[in-house]
Amino acid sequence: MPINIDENIHKSVLLAETLEVLKPQAGEIFVDATLGLGGHAERILTDSGDARVFGIDQDAEAIAIARRRLERFGRRIEIFHRNFSDIKRVLADAEIEKVDGVIADLGVSSLQFDSAERGFSFRFDAPLDMRMNPEDDETETAADLLATLSEFEIARIIYEYGEERKSRRIASRIVWKREQGEPIETTKQLADLVEKAVGRGKQDKTHPATRTFQALRIAVNGELEILEQFVRDSVDVLKTGGRLAVITFHSLEDRIVKQTFQKLAGKCFCPPRQPQCSCGATREIEILTRKPIVASEKELEENPRARSAKLRAGLKMN
Ligand SMILES: C[S@@+](CC[C@H](N)C(=O)[O-])C[C@H]1O[C@@H](n2cnc3c(N)ncnc32)[C@H](O)[C@@H]1O
Ligand SMILES: [Zn+2]
Repeated sequence: MPINIDENIHKSVLLAETLEVLKPQAGEIFVDATLGLGGHAERILTDSGDARVFGIDQDAEAIAIARRRLERFGRRIEIFHRNFSDIKRVLADAEIEKVDGVIADLGVSSLQFDSAERGFSFRFDAPLDMRMNPEDDETETAADLLATLSEFEIARIIYEYGEERKSRRIASRIVWKREQGEPIETTKQLADLVEKAVGRGKQDKTHPATRTFQALRIAVNGELEILEQFVRDSVDVLKTGGRLAVITFHSLEDRIVKQTFQKLAGKCFCPPRQPQCSCGATREIEILTRKPIVASEKELEENPRARSAKLRAGLKMN
């Protein structure tokens, strides 16, 4: 029986636009590398006759919901609790050589963001965790990072991943606190500290801690490090004519996806006088989106989370 997922809790972003580039056909095989609550996968399975989907997510809670939501599709959907950086291994283990499409809808799900305990949001007071895969004991939590990294390293993370100009001031307060025997361990402690460190302008639409929280989340989950290789691996596993769709939610991710697409479409990023290309430019895909596709006015009205979403798509040439 299909379960009811509260429409307000989770609305899949750019759904029609993604399906328009993936164009699922009967008999085809897709990978949904960020299954989440299964919204995109559900549409692929409904719109395509008998296509199959391999769904990957590193979050067991999301998988449990997606599993119930997609139960009715039987063996057309297979679900893997893995990191998408393992996409090639997941397919090899399933004895699948090539697929017709890959979709990745990056970032956190609303399930993660709206869950009080997981520490992604300063709207709830909770331990500062932020691991998308809390079962992975090897990944350090955000609190671990703030307790162990140097002031310089904390500032770098907040500056680079949060694009926060006052990163050094925030890092210095964090380290000062921990030296007083008061390490930052909860979302509220961090939000208050950032607010004190940077102040809050009357015009500010967002809480001043938003950028710092984004930065820590990216660092905890290693989100940017794996992205270029993931895009390359996805293109490797596509058949000729296969489609890749990637949705990003902030400019750092989008820049990596855009540049990796450009390299895979043949653009060289090496310094002009370098005799031989070493940046990994090849000609494997045709870019289907000169400019990224963004949400329509109508979608934005219904789902403010779509505001920063950008969809880029590529077609595998040979
Ligand atoms: C925005 S949600 C996806 C929502 C989904 N498309 C839907 O319509 O329901 C992003 C999901 O990607 C997962 N995720 C993010 N990075 C991942 C990674 N490196 N490996 C596996 N899953 C990842 C998160 O756990 C989260 O559930
Ligand atoms: Zn090059």
